Amino acid sequence: MAVLVEFRAVTYQIGGREILHGIDLCVEEGETVALLGRSGSGKTTLLKMVNRLVEPTGGEVRFEGKPVKDWDPIRLRRRMGYVIQEGGLFPHATVAENVGVVPKLEGWPEERIRARTIELLDAMGLPAPVYGGRRPRQLSGGEKQRVGIARALAADPPLLLLDEPFAALDPVTRFEMQQRFARMQRTFGKTALFVTHDIREALMLGTRIALLKEGRLELVARADEFAQARTPEAMAFLATLGEGTPDESHATR
Ligand SMILES: Nc1ncnc2c1ncn2[C@@H]1O[C@H](COP(=O)(O)OP(=O)(O)OP(=O)(O)O)[C@@H](O)[C@H]1O
Ligand SMILES: [Mg+2]
Repeated sequence: MAVLVEFRAVTYQIGGREILHGIDLCVEEGETVALLGRSGSGKTTLLKMVNRLVEPTGGEVRFEGKPVKDWDPIRLRRRMGYVIQEGGLFPHATVAENVGVVPKLEGWPEERIRARTIELLDAMGLPAPVYGGRRPRQLSGGEKQRVGIARALAADPPLLLLDEPFAALDPVTRFEMQQRFARMQRTFGKTALFVTHDIREALMLGTRIALLKEGRLELVARADEFAQARTPEAMAFLATLGEGTPDESHATR
């Protein structure tokens, strides 16, 4: 399996504090790696190093075998869909225009952009005839997030970066979105690096879980092995599942 993203001894210092310490991690093609950790553990900072929104102060991040600092940032970012928590949609563009923005930049013909937009909005449960012409302000928070995911997938980039894309949703919608995402992952088989502080979500969607504790990777384990992990932070997260629930969360996969 080819390695798509590689963190090599990555550190990050800011304001006299080191907030990431010697991170080594590979993301292979076809994997969904869940980056799990408490608030402030460094998840967003680590994710943003992949698309060069943050530059490491030590070590190196590589994408497709080449250091990201040697990539043209625009070309680099077009090769990875990025979903931020708030959706990050263009407020004055319609839903369809938001989804089609990267294909348009890539010079796709109009007809192909239209077909792709319809396909993705459909996959996200937002039929284009109903939603395509709306503006982001005419959508609920959850609908905006789904448009954000459709946009990230539009030009079929080799990698998806997702930063707590479902965190703002009510539990029922969140669960539906997680299942939809899991189905899409089975259909499209994207490589994804996925930030979450929710262990259920990590177990449900991650093929592997990378657990960050105060800027250090405490553990990297396959999702099906994580429930047996005995490191302190893994146990702290597992304890939040309550009795018996680790197996139930596997059953939803
Ligand atoms: N630009 C910055 N200047 C100073 N400190 C920063 C900066 N960016 C992040 N930090 C600090 O780095 C640490 C990690 O931040 P980061 O946003 O990566 O955490 P996180 O794991 O994504 O947390 P959350 O789950 O709350 O989103 C935090 O202590 C944060 O305060
Ligand atoms: Mg964050």
